[in-house]
Amino acid sequence: MNLVSTIQTLFVSFFFVFFFKPSLSLRTLTSDPCDSTALRDPRTLRSDQITVLINGYSESRIPLLQSLAATYSASPLVSAVFILWGNPSTPSQTLAEFSHNLTAFSFGSAPISLIRQSSPSLNARFLPRPSIATVAVLICDDDVEIDAKSFAFAFRVWESNPDRLIGFFARSHDIDLTRKKWIYTIHPDKYSIVLTKFMILKNRYLFEYSCGGGSAMARARSVVDRARNCEDILMNFVVAEETGAGPVLVGANWARDWGDARNEDIGDGDGRRGLSGTVAQVGLSSRRAEHRKRRGECISEFHRVLGKMALRYSYGKVVNSVGEQGLCQKGGKLVFCDQN
Ligand SMILES: *[C@@H]1O[C@H](CO)[C@@H](O)[C@H](O)[C@H]1NC(C)=O
Repeated sequence: MNLVSTIQTLFVSFFFVFFFKPSLSLRTLTSDPCDSTALRDPRTLRSDQITVLINGYSESRIPLLQSLAATYSASPLVSAVFILWGNPSTPSQTLAEFSHNLTAFSFGSAPISLIRQSSPSLNARFLPRPSIATVAVLICDDDVEIDAKSFAFAFRVWESNPDRLIGFFARSHDIDLTRKKWIYTIHPDKYSIVLTKFMILKNRYLFEYSCGGGSAMARARSVVDRARNCEDILMNFVVAEETGAGPVLVGANWARDWGDARNEDIGDGDGRRGLSGTVAQVGLSSRRAEHRKRRGECISEFHRVLGKMALRYSYGKVVNSVGEQGLCQKGGKLVFCDQN
């Protein structure tokens, strides 16, 4: 399927190059991701399914990525799976083989496509895509597997909170009063950032992140490029600014975290531990300490270039247990409804 559509695309492109004016063909070939006329009419997007965008980078994880993509593709909730390949030095041959394997060994109903990112920028994972046919998008890394029930539950939580960011892994910003700067940390009882290890959001936020916010957002996106990190934090800024509310943390029954060095900060590892079970706070390795420091610097930079601290705290976690707890507003905070 992939190969066929690639060949079709090539054929169509050549057709345009040879039979139409060059200006037209160029526009066809290098489309501007922020050209909103090229994107789907939001009214035509489906809201009963989700599009999964998995970030891929390291070749050694391809087998894992393949099983992850196949699992999502088999879910009736999934409309399509896109693997966004961000490593520019991976040989085309490897990707062609991977793409072949994806079609050959996946039997799910949702199509899986492998897309080589046109830019190594981490911002590219949030580019709006005309191929996304759903209102909801799941952004995830290649290192986390979530069980099907927790995934379905997270999608239901999104359905009732479609403007919020939904995630399984949370972090927090805070202020270091003595040094008067922002830090990146974990609080036992509140959070303001969900990680792209697993993040559900509205398709429209991809456009807001990539194309909205004028020159301030352009500067914020270049902070991401300079740091080669923190695109997830910036998305939390964008959505918090838009909604005036923090993200929603969902408890997973089962999450396996294969550990990506890029995410290695405070070593939560396991989704079940979620908010409070943040083990390993003591004895931080220096690499983790460095990672946290850089993430704190990103928060300070985003605050500076965007001119305000948009991040908002949320409290509590939505869990899918007996009676299905939900979050309720209480005194301006979200708490479990059964705690009222
Ligand atoms: C494709 O599948 C074959 C057979 O299972 C395997 O040997 C190979 O490593 C896979 N290659 C990629 C890039 O996925």
